[in-house]
Amino acid sequence: MRAPAQGSTRQSSSALGVAAIGYAFMGKAHSNAWRNAASFFDVPAIEQKVLVGRDARQVTEAAAKYGWAEAATDWREVIARDDIDIVDICTPGWMHAEIAIAALEAGKHVLVEKPLANTLAEAEAMAAAARAARERGVHSMIGFNYRRVPALALAKELIAEGRLGTVRHVRAAYQQDWLSDARSPMTWRLTKDTAGSGALGDIASHAIDQVLFLLGGSVTEVSGRLHTFVTSRPGTNGPEDVTVDDAAWVTLTHGSGAIASVEASRMATGQKNSLKLEVYGDKGALLFDLEELNELAFLDATLPVRERGFSRVLVTEPEHPYMNAWWPQGHIIGWEHTFTHEIRDFLTAIGNGTEPSPSFDDGLSVQRILAAVEESSAAKSSLIQLAGP
Ligand SMILES: NC(=O)c1ccc[n+]([C@@H]2O[C@H](COP(=O)([O-])OP(=O)(O)OC[C@H]3O[C@@H](n4cnc5c(N)ncnc54)[C@H](O)[C@@H]3O)[C@@H](O)[C@H]2O)c1
Repeated sequence: MRAPAQGSTRQSSSALGVAAIGYAFMGKAHSNAWRNAASFFDVPAIEQKVLVGRDARQVTEAAAKYGWAEAATDWREVIARDDIDIVDICTPGWMHAEIAIAALEAGKHVLVEKPLANTLAEAEAMAAAARAARERGVHSMIGFNYRRVPALALAKELIAEGRLGTVRHVRAAYQQDWLSDARSPMTWRLTKDTAGSGALGDIASHAIDQVLFLLGGSVTEVSGRLHTFVTSRPGTNGPEDVTVDDAAWVTLTHGSGAIASVEASRMATGQKNSLKLEVYGDKGALLFDLEELNELAFLDATLPVRERGFSRVLVTEPEHPYMNAWWPQGHIIGWEHTFTHEIRDFLTAIGNGTEPSPSFDDGLSVQRILAAVEESSAAKSSLIQLAGP
């Protein structure tokens, strides 16, 4: 089953050697998924070889806790190792392009967290590196994990089967409140140099990816508005400027003619991690709420009006996407399972020698929309046309 990355000379083990870079939020979530994917899914064998961070003591502790054989502090040295086949990038956005391009050029398969990069130029360079690597049998994927929520994978199937008819519009809202308190301190997520953008790249990117995932195709027009409510926050040596948005409002025209509205805020007081999606077609409608992750509401508008209403589908049947690997029906799963599904899909594609999805080109499509939102916002929300892919 092993599909060695080109450039790897290692012959001793049939398992794919994995290195993860970053051991905090996403590093922990991905480690959990690397650790348990093979316990539930039939995937190519892996070895959790090395976890990379900056602080030697902390990364050593994290490596031991999260199941990695070793810890390291220099990602360049790790990428150069012959026993590493896969590099999983869980660092802030400002490092994505440099690490991903270096790893792909070294012949390693790459999984990178979203958004693809901090700038459109970086994203274009990453997508070009991924296309060149693909020619050499080296694969890459971006971690839009909400594509792996079974209810949303089911929603995509229902839309593709025509159960909603012609989709007319989509509402997507991703709301958090961790910046609601104006005294919350500065982090790398609040400066353009380190994060690229604020709520836009951090969470609107997920919602925009869902529009593309659910409808397929591409977006042709974008308008947007960005706003920063709190422009200065406590830093280590006094107040520091916030140089990214706190909230974003976006409308998208899809190539099919459907319109999507996307809202994202990290200041929606009371909302902890609320992702809500609504899809309306002429034959039906779908509703999803991440806080009820195992459920999808479906309305069949072809039924007589007297019988019509949203039905609650508990997405835990063996025939639902991903669910035959888990528990008997009705035994619900959680947010962390989306990462296990992500690793499952990535490893399966590597094993089959096919391109994993979403690709860096898919990440680039989202990045083009993020850049267009910024352009639109700077031009009083004017409509920006997007060229084809
Ligand atoms: N898919 C999701 O739901 C989701 C959720 C949160 C974050 N993310 C994305 O994941 C990425 C990381 O975010 P996070 O929340 O885990 O950030 P974090 O701040 O929690 O962790 C960042 C990690 O990067 C490491 N790092 C920084 N510089 C490094 C260097 N030079 N060498 C090695 N390691 C270095 C840090 O030590 C830390 O372990 C971002 O792209 C973010 O947008 C995705």
